Amino acid sequence: MPVTETRHYKLPALAQTGFVTLPAFSGQLDPAEWERLHYLDWKSGGDTNFAVLASALGEDDPRGFWEHGLPDKDGVWTANASLAPTLRQWVQSVGARFGRVRIIKLAPSTDVETVIRQHLHLDDNNRLNPVDEGWVVRAWLNLTDDPDSYMILREDRDDPATEHRIALPLGAQFVVDTERLWHAAYHPGSQARYAMIASFESGPALEAWMEGRRAPRPVRQASPADFTTA
Ligand SMILES: [Fe+2]
Repeated sequence: MPVTETRHYKLPALAQTGFVTLPAFSGQLDPAEWERLHYLDWKSGGDTNFAVLASALGEDDPRGFWEHGLPDKDGVWTANASLAPTLRQWVQSVGARFGRVRIIKLAPSTDVETVIRQHLHLDDNNRLNPVDEGWVVRAWLNLTDDPDSYMILREDRDDPATEHRIALPLGAQFVVDTERLWHAAYHPGSQARYAMIASFESGPALEAWMEGRRAPRPVRQASPADFTTA
């Protein structure tokens, strides 16, 4: 099991399971914002390609920020980001420090057993992260409608009893401590699945954004018209 006890600030909302699902994104998503980006051949969690929206130095570079001696924070927008204004706005609207931001293009999976056996992995979000700052976690926005696909999360890689699954319909949003939970997406669809993945620093801003998404919608007040009879 990975060591998860650190001095970094961690979100109480993630303490129990390591993840939080949020209601689906309610804004408009235009496939032009991800289909015309420049994708790199970069394998992580399956047959994948990645388009980089924010990197350590603003270059079209899929590598970890630690390659530049930096923690996964204060990402710099790349040329791709100018083609994806809604996606950039989504990241900025969270209000938290963000690091790597990428679009993942995932080819259809062969079968779920293969995904579990070959693709479950932990991320390395907190390398070089100063211990007096917030723990880096990741947020997802699913860009394609893949209701039969799901993210597999396991506290213990080899113990299915520790598994949770998150469905991936259009606009699905969730936050995962991916350095704690083993994860990979199972995607049985016939077309590629696209999703945005962004690294965020745990702290009051991310907490408030998550709480704002989780809050129940206000109940409409009754008006006199509701009680009139014909
Ligand atoms: Fe990952």
